[in-house]
This record gives sequence, C-alpha cells and structure tokens, in this order.
Amino acid sequence: MTFEQAPHKLLMIPGPIEVADDVLYENAHPAVAHVAPEFCQVYSEVLKNLRKVVYASDKVQPLAIAGSGTMGWDMTAVNALQPGEEVLVLETGYFSDGYADAMRAYGVKPTVLEAPAGQRPSLDQVKDALKQKKYRAVTITHVDTSTGVLTDVKAVAEAVREVSPETFIFVDSVCAVASEELRFDDWGIDLVLTGSQKGLGCPPGLSIMLIGPRVVKAFEERKTPPATYYLNWKHWFPVMKAYEAASPAYFGTPPTNLIYALHRSLKTILEGPVSLEERIKLTKQASDKIKNALTEMGLKQLVDPELQKNNGAANGMTAVRYPNGLKAPDVLPKMAQRGIVLGAGIHKDCKDQYFRIGHMGVSAVDTSRGDIDKVLRNLKEVLSESSQKL
Ligand SMILES: Cc1ncc(COP(=O)(O)O)c(C=O)c1O
Repeated sequence: MTFEQAPHKLLMIPGPIEVADDVLYENAHPAVAHVAPEFCQVYSEVLKNLRKVVYASDKVQPLAIAGSGTMGWDMTAVNALQPGEEVLVLETGYFSDGYADAMRAYGVKPTVLEAPAGQRPSLDQVKDALKQKKYRAVTITHVDTSTGVLTDVKAVAEAVREVSPETFIFVDSVCAVASEELRFDDWGIDLVLTGSQKGLGCPPGLSIMLIGPRVVKAFEERKTPPATYYLNWKHWFPVMKAYEAASPAYFGTPPTNLIYALHRSLKTILEGPVSLEERIKLTKQASDKIKNALTEMGLKQLVDPELQKNNGAANGMTAVRYPNGLKAPDVLPKMAQRGIVLGAGIHKDCKDQYFRIGHMGVSAVDTSRGDIDKVLRNLKEVLSESSQKL
C-alpha cells in the first residue's frame, strides 16, 4: 500500500475520528460490483467480525448497511418494537433523548428516567421504575457523546434481568464500540447499534446493528408489519445472511467502499498489532492522560465528580467545562487555527459551558502519532493566551 493522506486538521471530536491510512486506502477501493464474489467474501468477513468486536455468538444477527447511527434508532423502534409498547429510556443527555424521540416517531411510548447533565440514573432508580410498570425494553446509551457519561451496561443489564427478565436490553454503543468493553452474550444484551465513524475507525456512512435471538423472534412474531420500507428487517435479514454465506443478494445497493474500509479496520481491531482488550486499555490510558492533564490545568469535566470516581466517565472522549470567563470562541477557533478540531458542547442545559475532546481509535491507540500530546500542548497554550486577555 502506498498512500499518504492530504494535509488536514487533526480531527479530535468525539466522532467522526481520524482514519488510519490503510483504512482510508480501502475506502478508495476501485469500483466493484456489489454482487462480485470477491466483494461477497469481504462482506462475509465484516459481518462475522462485527460479532467478535462485541463478543456475540453466532445466534446474533449482524447488520451493516448504508446509513448512520441514528438509523439504528429508527430500525430499533420500527422493527424490534410495536406501536403502543412501553420503553424505559435511561437519560444521559442529547443522545438518549434522541433515542426516545425516535421511539415516539413510530408510536412507541418512552418513559424517560431523567438525570441531570453529567449524571446517569442510578441502578436503584432503574429497578424501581421496572417494578412500577412492565416495559418491553430498556434503552441504554453506552457513552452519551453529549456529556461523556459512561453507563455500566453490565450492571444495568443485571438489574433489568433481576427485576424484569423479559424486558429487552437495547444498547446505543455508537460512541463506545471498540473503545469500551461490551460483551453481548455474557451481559445478556438483546441489541447493540453503532456507526462506522467512531471506535470502529472508518469514515461515516454505515449503520451497524447486532440483534439478539429474543429480538429476532419478537420481530418474526409481530402482529403489525413495520411501517417502513427501507428499514424493514424483513428485507435486510435475508441479504445479511446471504452475504455472510459469501453469496450475493440484493435489497438496496450496499456502500461497497465503506464495507472494504470496515473490513480493514475490523482486521486491525481484532488481529492487531494490539488485541481488542489491549486497544480498550490503551484508549483508557489516553483518556486518563487527558483527564489528568485537564485537572492539572484546573479544568473540570462535565461528568459528575462522584460518577468519575465510579468509572462513569468514557474512555473515548472527554467533556470539559470552560474555565471561568472563557467561552467557545476563546478556545475552539483558536485550536482550529493551530490545526486541531475539537467539538462544541451540545447538551441542551449547558451547551455553551463546555467543549468535547474525542480520543478514540488511532489517536488513542497509536501513541507514535502523538495526537494526545499535541492536543494537550496546544490546549494549554490556547487557554493561557485567552485567560491573559481577560
Ligand atoms: C451515542 C450516539 N448515538 C447516536 C448517534 C447518532 O449517530 P450518527 O451521527 O452516526 O447518526 C451518535 C452520534 O454522535 C452518538 O454519539
């Protein structure tokens, strides 16, 4: 492979993220028919490897099609649930609220278990809510990208099983897959949705789901057909099964280049140079380095301090409050001038009070790039310059 990326600003927002050279090269794969045997083989490996990234058995149906993470919300609401069904949404910020909105769009009834910005509902609150009413499903936003709050999916899943074992557990892991531990089978998860552009290290454009056997069964037994054409699993399951068997099938042309890109990045994630476990450890190390340095600079995270102590802050991103007197224009454009793109705040209650740093994928795992140091060095200088002007 001979390939060099065009000079560009270092993308350190919490997705999309920097893409490794070899993945970007695959994204430029020459044109290929979506039914060509060589493409079917690649798609087959992608689907099999997606299971491995979340430790899911062969009973779990993988799906990777054109779309974005948001489409996974729609797919969940319209296929896995029926109008009128009740769902408990664990609020963590902008993205859990979005999942709830997607439910409403299809007549599903979400009850939002509220939490202030930087916090998450407690296990006791989840258990109490489940004792009060029968819910068809609980939705968890694994990492809420608006706040950096990490939910302990394993513990929530245990709590749900204890109180209401028939309730499905749906996990939005768009900002967590391959950056945080996620064990589909061992933790008793029913559905995971994600996208290609964060921990999976690809360009945006793929909506990825892993659907467990209880949900597939419920889908097959549903009384009303899903009110959708493109999103209907009835069309996609046979196509995914055919591709997994390395044979062609058609329902909507797949984004062939993105499948090649994902194929490459999944190989790196699963086969090295570092293992998936090691990747998650390295992502945590990068996160600790950033979070400790921010604390040394006198900055506070958006995640509640108690929650931070209880492993409630994400590995793959950090939401940071501006120091007193500074606002977004004092920091973000100045970082961009220095060639580093950080993200603005997006939580409805405090979006102007904080900014976000993404540290997933190559930027965290390939320390030889020096991305984390570059962000910290420049941020320190920008904050000092801007504070002096106050
Ligand atoms: C946790 C979470 N869920 C869902 C989404 C929506 O994904 P997309 O922007 O790919 O539609 C995002 C996007 O950032 C996200 O972070």
